[in-house]
Amino acid sequence: MRTVLYFIALAGLFAFTVSKKENGFIDSNFSFVQQQLKHMLKETETRNKLAFPRTTDASGKMTTTSMYDWTPGFFPGSLWYAFEHTKDKALEEQAVAWTEKLEPLKDFTKHHDLGFMVYCSYGNAYRLTGNKAYRDILIQSARSLSTRFSPVTGSIKSWNGFKSWHGNKTYYYPVIIDNMMNLELLFFAARETGDTSFRHIAVTHAENTMKNQIRPDGSSYHVVCYDSTTGKVEGRETAQGYADNSTWSRGQAWGIYGFTMVYRETRDPRFLATAERMADFYLNHKNLPADKVPYWDFNAGEAGYTPGVNSNALKVSTRYRDASAAAITASALFELSGYVKNKKGKKYRKAATQMLHALGSPAYRAPEGANGNFMIMHCVGSIPHNSEIDKPLVYADYYFTEALQRYNASLK
Ligand code: GLY
Repeated sequence: MRTVLYFIALAGLFAFTVSKKENGFIDSNFSFVQQQLKHMLKETETRNKLAFPRTTDASGKMTTTSMYDWTPGFFPGSLWYAFEHTKDKALEEQAVAWTEKLEPLKDFTKHHDLGFMVYCSYGNAYRLTGNKAYRDILIQSARSLSTRFSPVTGSIKSWNGFKSWHGNKTYYYPVIIDNMMNLELLFFAARETGDTSFRHIAVTHAENTMKNQIRPDGSSYHVVCYDSTTGKVEGRETAQGYADNSTWSRGQAWGIYGFTMVYRETRDPRFLATAERMADFYLNHKNLPADKVPYWDFNAGEAGYTPGVNSNALKVSTRYRDASAAAITASALFELSGYVKNKKGKKYRKAATQMLHALGSPAYRAPEGANGNFMIMHCVGSIPHNSEIDKPLVYADYYFTEALQRYNASLK
């Protein structure tokens, strides 16, 4: 009996020591996040008020986009997470200001990214403040996003057109794996309004993505193109990946995160199984480096995978890492590990923790005040487009911050 009690006490002491150490890791990273965001806020004062941080130029200075690109919600979203952890009022004030700049987006219908644009900003704003005006903007945004759904294809149209890298075709109903992320806004609107059409659109879109976009081994096609009159799939290609049959790492990350979120909202085991298959593909892949920060495409440069004739991927042989894919996946795996029992759930959590530690290390985390004041280095926007290669990206910072917050919550 005494021996048993001794071991129980020892295990308790070990768990306490680990959790104390990990709390220190989270706090020190949040203090870096807080400082880096303040440096970036200072830089934004020198720019146009409606310019949203995105990446850096060749000289390392911050570059921006308009609010109508897909990324304006991430900077306010990071401010909200940083405020949530640090309780720094100055960050809250800025989070409010940067979120409220995005109000015109509530009526935006030109592409599918509204979920990213308003849920990372207004979604966090409403979660943390309960301000009903924010809720109304989210609901109106969900209405705008819903206009891109067709019952014929059973999907939300991502872009209005997509030109194949093979140079022989333009598609007019492309759906990209990233689109899974926009469904969170629709689930929110369904819950808030009781209007089940939002939920119907989200579930139908997720079902068709599961059917048409995910391969039997759990990997993903980036772009599936539908015929808008028959609803049939007319092409499976890539836009940002290496080849049509390869697996673009950030696309895989969007899928892991997206299906985990859809499982949270529906409790439908098919979506959980899909999230697990996608996570297993990522984590068990022979080309995944030891630190679990993937190369930009799981199959870049491999025999059997050929970029389209017009893709810049043909000219790039360096195997760049994409830290943004790791940040998204780490955040997703913290959530997924809460839905999966026993050994597998523990494996997901361990992988998420390992990835977060890699991202928080000098290998990927920028020195304070460097990297254009972005947090994370070594990301890839799009090699086929010859754009944002080995750069910081504002969404890597957002998901890094979210992963820190999720890890912190899981230790309580
Ligand atoms: N959603 C676009 C991207 O991940 O680059």
